[in-house]
Amino acid sequence: MSKPVDSAAANVARVESAAGTHEFPIRSGTIGPNVIEISKLYSETGYFTYDPGFTSTASCESKITYIDGDAGILLYRGYPIDQLAEQSNFLEIAYLLLTGELPSKTEFDEFEHAITHHTMVHEQLHRFFSGFRRDAHPMAIMCGVVGALSAFYHDSTDINDPRQRLVASRRLIAKMPTIAAMAFKYSIGQPFVYPDNDLDYTASFLKMCFAVPTATYRVNPILSRAMDRIFILHADHEQNASTSTVRLASSSGANPFACIAAGIACLWGPAHGGANEAALNMLVEIGSADRIPEYVRKAKDKNDPFRLMGFGHRVYKNYDPRAKVMQQTCHEVLDELGVKNEPLLEVAMELEKIALSDEYFIEKKLYPNIDFYSGITLKAMGFPTTMFTALFALARTVGWVAQWNEMIEDPSQRIGRPRQLYIGHTPRDYVPLAER
Ligand code: CMC
Repeated sequence: MSKPVDSAAANVARVESAAGTHEFPIRSGTIGPNVIEISKLYSETGYFTYDPGFTSTASCESKITYIDGDAGILLYRGYPIDQLAEQSNFLEIAYLLLTGELPSKTEFDEFEHAITHHTMVHEQLHRFFSGFRRDAHPMAIMCGVVGALSAFYHDSTDINDPRQRLVASRRLIAKMPTIAAMAFKYSIGQPFVYPDNDLDYTASFLKMCFAVPTATYRVNPILSRAMDRIFILHADHEQNASTSTVRLASSSGANPFACIAAGIACLWGPAHGGANEAALNMLVEIGSADRIPEYVRKAKDKNDPFRLMGFGHRVYKNYDPRAKVMQQTCHEVLDELGVKNEPLLEVAMELEKIALSDEYFIEKKLYPNIDFYSGITLKAMGFPTTMFTALFALARTVGWVAQWNEMIEDPSQRIGRPRQLYIGHTPRDYVPLAER
């Protein structure tokens, strides 16, 4: 088979095989690269495509999020991330991602009311937590508890009923902060704190994490705003690994809670959402600026598996636009908390400077990503490293739910079923044990 030829005039790509020339339509989105639609490639030519890691494959049509990795652009429903992080709030972003438009005041109030009034979890779920060891990782708890929601909310598991989908979407967004905060409280041996409907989404979350029954808790508006911004920055990111996992799980018709639990499991990996925890652990391990060259050397050594966590991205080959906002938020939080001369921040700033001027990182276009600064910020706010990815999961639930709904409403959706290039044995006869 020869290389496809893009015949722009005819808007088709031609592929030659032993059977002749085949034409495949070239389709354009509103922005971004065109795609060659190859859904009939196998039936017409007998060939599959081979693309490990899906580096050249668009798995779906989507109207939700757009990334231009070379230019460092991220848009939610067309709005640039920096404008949203500066001017909006997380619940408004959730509405935007779910519906496609910014809400009017009435729409926002109705949405906020609906989310606020779904924040409590079934009381029996509290007992579910006590089945975990105290030292369980919050992401392990989140996978289990979110999956278990399908055992508690039977009335919102029919994915073919739009009303049930709406209720499941709102339940997931509303209950995720409660579950994440409970995972945190459980790990430190403190009593669970119920959501507070007089507070906004993010402030209520902070209260569930940091209040104790013996003292009055006052929300710090600067920290609450910073947390909200962190949620906005993590809300969606196109067809990344965990979102694709949610879509693939859902393509079989699985219930929404099971699909989101699958997304959480995927997010946990250090190459994805687990990188914020890994980045902070790395900064702690480096410890002081004089040790940076040693770690940069390790990162460049082909025989050493070490990577600079918080650097590089599959799509961004430029500064991650979220990292810019995150860096600013990090400084705001440290100033507010009066953290002076934070050694981890000093190591981070020096590491960033060195990496950005090093030929290896320049040539490979490895820039700091969002996880580089989020860890320092969350640590200063009082979260242990093990909670970092759980906070990412909380925020990304909005994106997962939006993408899940979009997929179910897409009439072209079918069960996801990739094929393979088989390189195993050709047929051979079974040999009985006594003869082996
Ligand atoms: N440190 C050192 N070298 C690196 C790094 C790094 N952080 N990232 C990539 N490289 C090198 C890699 O060795 C390879 O070199 P070569 O071409 O000589 O073999 C080249 O850059 C391309 O790397 P790749 O692994 O083919 O790139 P990828 O697109 O498959 O991986 C990535 C992207 C994010 C998994 C990777 O950059 C990485 O492991 N980064 C560290 C983990 C991290 O910070 N992840 C968070 C991503 S942002 C949050 C999210 O969206 O989930």
